Amino acid sequence: MLFDVLTIFPSLFVSPLEEGILRKARQEGKIRIQLTDIRDFADDRHATTDDRPFGGGEGMVMKPEPLTAAVEKVRAAGNTGRVILLTPQGRRYSQEIARELATESSLILVCGRYEGVDERFRAAFCEDELSIGDYILTGGELAAMVVIDSVSRLLPGVLGCPDSAERDTFSRRLLKHPQYTRPRNFRGVDVPEVLTNGNHAEIEGYRFIEAVRRTLARRPDLLIQEEFTPQESRLLQK
Ligand code: ADE
Repeated sequence: MLFDVLTIFPSLFVSPLEEGILRKARQEGKIRIQLTDIRDFADDRHATTDDRPFGGGEGMVMKPEPLTAAVEKVRAAGNTGRVILLTPQGRRYSQEIARELATESSLILVCGRYEGVDERFRAAFCEDELSIGDYILTGGELAAMVVIDSVSRLLPGVLGCPDSAERDTFSRRLLKHPQYTRPRNFRGVDVPEVLTNGNHAEIEGYRFIEAVRRTLARRPDLLIQEEFTPQESRLLQK
């Protein structure tokens, strides 16, 4: 999958995408990330990409010309994918949207900065707008990284364990059960006995109950949308 990222801070992306699973996915050619510096498309010698808003008010607005030229360049280079603007005004990003994006072969991620982008650019080029949550970042760069990371791990062959993406929190509306590794006793606290007895049906049952318990305590909003199998319902009634 190809991600073209349009940003005035391309260097922000270098090290976060150079580690772990994303590094390996890039090396194996499963994902390709191309960074475009919007400043390269500014037409004055100060490489200006923003200006004051018409009508007055706080902050600066990203100018339409450099953004347009940057999108046209990546389109001309062959990326015909969806142009997505990262903005707090976008639809709320979710695992469901990550799954939807993972079916596409390329994306163009536009990182907004300042008080936003010129409306004429947004209306003409941005086919989708995403927000990663109800808080304001200094720009769309971190949000673009969130999208790249969460989409990449869903692509075939990117995760070591092929079914771990399926079993994640949010493939169902349940938070993950608690996890333990060695040592068996850490500072006086034992790993729950059931996890050490090798009975897989019991372990699955225990994990399911703990996942429901945790979801009920922390995210009851998720639980009311979840549906259970008859076997799960029996476990919950115990
Ligand atoms: N830019 C600034 N805040 C953002 C957010 N919450 N999501 C996406 N892009 C943003």
